[in-house]
Amino acid sequence: MSDPLQGLREGLAAIQARAAEIAAAVTREADLPEARAEFFGRKKGAFNPIMSELGKLSREARPEAGQLINDSKLAVEALFEAAKARLEAEALDAAIEAGRLDVTLPGRRVARGAIHPIQRVMDELIDLFGQMGFDLAEGPEVETEAYNFDLLNMPADHPARDMQDTFYLSGGLLLRTQTSPMQIRAMEAQQPPIRIIAPGKVFRADSDPTHSPTFHQIEGLWIDEDVTIVHLKAVLTDFLHRLFGPDKKVRFRPSFFPFTEPSVEVDIWDESGAEGKWMEVLGAGMVHPQVLRNVGWDPNKVQGFAFGLGVDRLAMTRYGITHIAHLFTNDQRFLSQF
Ligand code: PHE
Repeated sequence: MSDPLQGLREGLAAIQARAAEIAAAVTREADLPEARAEFFGRKKGAFNPIMSELGKLSREARPEAGQLINDSKLAVEALFEAAKARLEAEALDAAIEAGRLDVTLPGRRVARGAIHPIQRVMDELIDLFGQMGFDLAEGPEVETEAYNFDLLNMPADHPARDMQDTFYLSGGLLLRTQTSPMQIRAMEAQQPPIRIIAPGKVFRADSDPTHSPTFHQIEGLWIDEDVTIVHLKAVLTDFLHRLFGPDKKVRFRPSFFPFTEPSVEVDIWDESGAEGKWMEVLGAGMVHPQVLRNVGWDPNKVQGFAFGLGVDRLAMTRYGITHIAHLFTNDQRFLSQF
């Protein structure tokens, strides 16, 4: 006896086989609704034509046929549920894999900084002067005209006050062109004996391979009741010999600064190039009587000497640096050589 539902069974088996294939092939959760629609979609659903066949069956056959179709729908539904569960598990695995921390991998290297050659030389100089009994003083980079010029006996028509050299700010302020204002600040802050150094940045509107608009000086000041030019010469020679060795050739030349009288410039014999040359490292002199009077002191009772040391050029010869820009670009490859 032939099975009246034979065709239906075969049709449903074919649908289920196809659903199993499609559900297994879906790789993204977002594609599931579209895949499901091939079977349950209102228009193109694979079960639709079968449902409309139902009416053609005999009344007795219909309940069983309905049952078969329902079972088949549930089976297909289960296939897609399983696919959904599989895709969710895969997504979770992928997320875990992506965020996995492999503690055995080598760490990312943190570049180690190096102390800047300017700072190295600064530290060395501060240390040397410290051994020679000089205390450390610090003052502002933004100064008044009074401290940077007037009180240092540099009148308003002095060439160094030319706009080309000085970075003027608003409100009568400027970027200090020298560390010498620290002489005034030190003399205002303490009574003799004074023996200080004041290192720091100074600024001038000047820029070429050997001049930078920002550079570094160390100011020195020694004031007491009987300090003479002999002390000046002895201290600065001693300092340069401590720095470069006792055989370093040192030369004192007469010079001019408005705030010292007499004034000198100090050169060292520089052998870093192909042939040696004198290189200026210091300006110095006996503190001008007018400067002492400007802070209310009697030049007949106290005297002293001051000096200003250019740090950058010293650092450049020290480390064989040829272009001043290297000191400011802060290229790690450059800095880490020291
Ligand atoms: N301030 C001077 C300069 O910048 C250097 C100096 C300091 C000279 C102290 C004499 C005394 O050139």
